[in-house]
Amino acid sequence: MSHDARPLSIKSASYIEREDKYGAHNYHPLPVVLERGDGVWLWDVDGNKYLDFLSAYSAVNQGHCHPRIVSTMIRQAQKLTLTSRAFHSNLLGEAEEYIAKLFGYDKVLLMNTGVEGTETAMKLARKWAYKVKGIESNKARILFANNNFHGRTLAVISASNDPDARNDFGPFMPGISRIAYNNLPALQRELESDTDIAAFIVEPIQGEAGVVVPDSNYLTGVYELCKKHNVLFIADEIQTGIGRTGTMLATDINKNAKPDMVILGKALSGGMMPVSAVLCNDNIMMTIKAGEHGSTFGGNPLACAVAMEALKVIQDEKLAENAAKMGQIFRDGLNSISAKNNLVQLVRGRGLLNAIVINSDEDSDVAWNICLAFRDHGLLAKPTHGNKIRLAPPLVINEEQIHLALNIIEKCLGYFRN
Ligand SMILES: Cc1ncc(COP(=O)(O)O)c(C=O)c1O
Repeated sequence: MSHDARPLSIKSASYIEREDKYGAHNYHPLPVVLERGDGVWLWDVDGNKYLDFLSAYSAVNQGHCHPRIVSTMIRQAQKLTLTSRAFHSNLLGEAEEYIAKLFGYDKVLLMNTGVEGTETAMKLARKWAYKVKGIESNKARILFANNNFHGRTLAVISASNDPDARNDFGPFMPGISRIAYNNLPALQRELESDTDIAAFIVEPIQGEAGVVVPDSNYLTGVYELCKKHNVLFIADEIQTGIGRTGTMLATDINKNAKPDMVILGKALSGGMMPVSAVLCNDNIMMTIKAGEHGSTFGGNPLACAVAMEALKVIQDEKLAENAAKMGQIFRDGLNSISAKNNLVQLVRGRGLLNAIVINSDEDSDVAWNICLAFRDHGLLAKPTHGNKIRLAPPLVINEEQIHLALNIIEKCLGYFRN
């Protein structure tokens, strides 16, 4: 058996041609043109219906166009959207209090995109290093893990080792180093060899790298080593946070290993608009003074209203709990598919952040062709780093939909059996 990808309709092709002609070619999307979403479902311009197994890279945890978030957004958009931070608004303090208390930190700094959250965390770490830790001016270093993904700005790609992210974008920002992920001795060696380290910024599960789940003692070990060496432990929970991995934060499963700083984004707005946040306690947050950091849109009233409602939906609908339960059923299903089909080398993940690793070279097009077959059978997913397919539906998914997805996945993988 094999699978011949469905040819594009003239209508879909015309949308894609227009993007190609007038837009930068900085993405390589799967050929499908979407126009509507509802919960776990997406529809293309030809009326075909799909289960969304990407969730806009985990930004629509609450499901597409969640009615509560949409109506909050409309209500607030009709009242006040933006004041800039030149003035106060009636919603900023309320949102800050709500978010800070929910995650258990003194304060929050609101930005827009995820990468701005990472940038903010890096700036806070440097300020803290000079003002509190006492590192000599311009000497602070921030550690990252190999194969990380924290966004696309110049400072953040300076921490990347992905050639696609870096090639021809140098020179890069100094004061950044990388160590192996999921490797406590490597972190220990680095911390022991240099007292000028301000922070270690790390994803609790590496999403873009292909949903790489570290050993169960890793984050506790990171916490302890960072404490011992007076280095900030900063968790990038932009993809793993807000219920995705079965707990509100992925780092919540490690008791007594709370990060000094957490970065949130994506599902903080339920996919409605860019809202990101950095959370930490006063000893770090208060090192930044008026005029030293900010953004015109950061903490705008529309974002505040939407973010609070998006977080309430996660709690009221118990979406983290649902992610844990549905994730287990899904992984069990994937594992039994993998036992029958040696094309699947590995199944990994936590909650509803999962991936299958395809038994092929990273640069082969097998995973891409599998995703085309998924599309033609009504499921949307996208390969990450060549041979890994991330499978991350909205957290509102139910058991029947999980089984529907497993049937599609099994059938499609059957076409490509080794
Ligand atoms: C872990 C992580 N950090 C940061 C980012 C960057 O977020 P944004 O694309 O909103 O800038 C992403 C996006 O995929 C991410 O997964």
